[in-house]
Amino acid sequence: MELEDFKKLFDSSLSSSNLLLNSVIAHIRQKNGKMMRPMLVLLAAKLYGEICPATLHAAVALELLHNASLVHDDVVDESTERRGQLSVNAIFNNKVAVLSGDYLLATALVQVGLTRNHAIIDIVSCLGQDLAEGELLQLSNVSNLQFSEDIYFDVIRKKTAVLFAACTKAGALSVGADGERAEFARLFGEYIGLCFQIKDDIFDYFESREIGKPTGNDMLEGKLTLPVLYALNSTGDETAGEIAVKVKNGDATADEIAFLIEFTKRHGGIEYASQMMYAYREKALLLLASMPDTDVRTALAAYLDYVVEREK
Ligand code: IPE
Ligand code: IPE
Ligand code: MG
Ligand code: MG
Repeated sequence: MELEDFKKLFDSSLSSSNLLLNSVIAHIRQKNGKMMRPMLVLLAAKLYGEICPATLHAAVALELLHNASLVHDDVVDESTERRGQLSVNAIFNNKVAVLSGDYLLATALVQVGLTRNHAIIDIVSCLGQDLAEGELLQLSNVSNLQFSEDIYFDVIRKKTAVLFAACTKAGALSVGADGERAEFARLFGEYIGLCFQIKDDIFDYFESREIGKPTGNDMLEGKLTLPVLYALNSTGDETAGEIAVKVKNGDATADEIAFLIEFTKRHGGIEYASQMMYAYREKALLLLASMPDTDVRTALAAYLDYVVEREK
């Protein structure tokens, strides 16, 4: 029900007199996405109180910021499909995607202002910095020839987990949660976000009709994610290492990428990454266990199950 209220506010937040912008917005609206972030804002608010207008404005702001980051991400990743349809850069072009991504970001700021809650405004402002830093760190790491898991976690914390952490914290703050509760909510969201990106990175190793975006794209973009990092570091295999360096330099052939993906699977990279994901799920569940046993707690546990079990 509250998700309906969210949807109404989300749609009404986006209207412009510019024809081109309106056609981009109409394109984006055709496919909703999973709406994982606003759902999390609403659930975190319910953990500590009743959903109110500030909760809904925060949820809209965070979903808009997420959408802005996807529109820009597809330009950066040169990706042509998103949510089962052409990406904005593919159907229009890079210029239109950059500018309309900016518009979505600016609209997120308008919405967060409407919460009239300084703490929430601070969270969303800092979040924009973290997301951009995460994407830049990922980009500069392409030319770093180490196969570092620490850098991997640093990247996914900034580009993905911080957004989930902002959702839970803003949700809690919107209903007046105190500092300790807000911090608790933040940490819970961060663990969810880490699970979420590890799962997304695992998806990239498999063909999928359901997922609605290209897979196999990460290595094409020079990105080595957790499964392959583990396979490289645990085997120390020289041939695979040389190919991985080529991937980073952007000059690996399709056959070499296929070899590295196969190599990763053969040496337990997928299992290792899933184990790490389940370890973060455990941490999140442990936090939840300290909460009173309510319907919201059950819903949050189900949300966490969905993050790790989902097929898209
Ligand atoms: C995609 O997020 C970006 C990542 C952090 C991996 P989602 O998978 O939540 O995207 P939508 O909103 O459902 O399309
Ligand atoms: C998502 O990273 C992070 C964002 C900030 C958008 P990816 O590049 O892996 O996301 P997808 O796979 O394109 O959705
Ligand atoms: Mg991408
Ligand atoms: Mg991905």
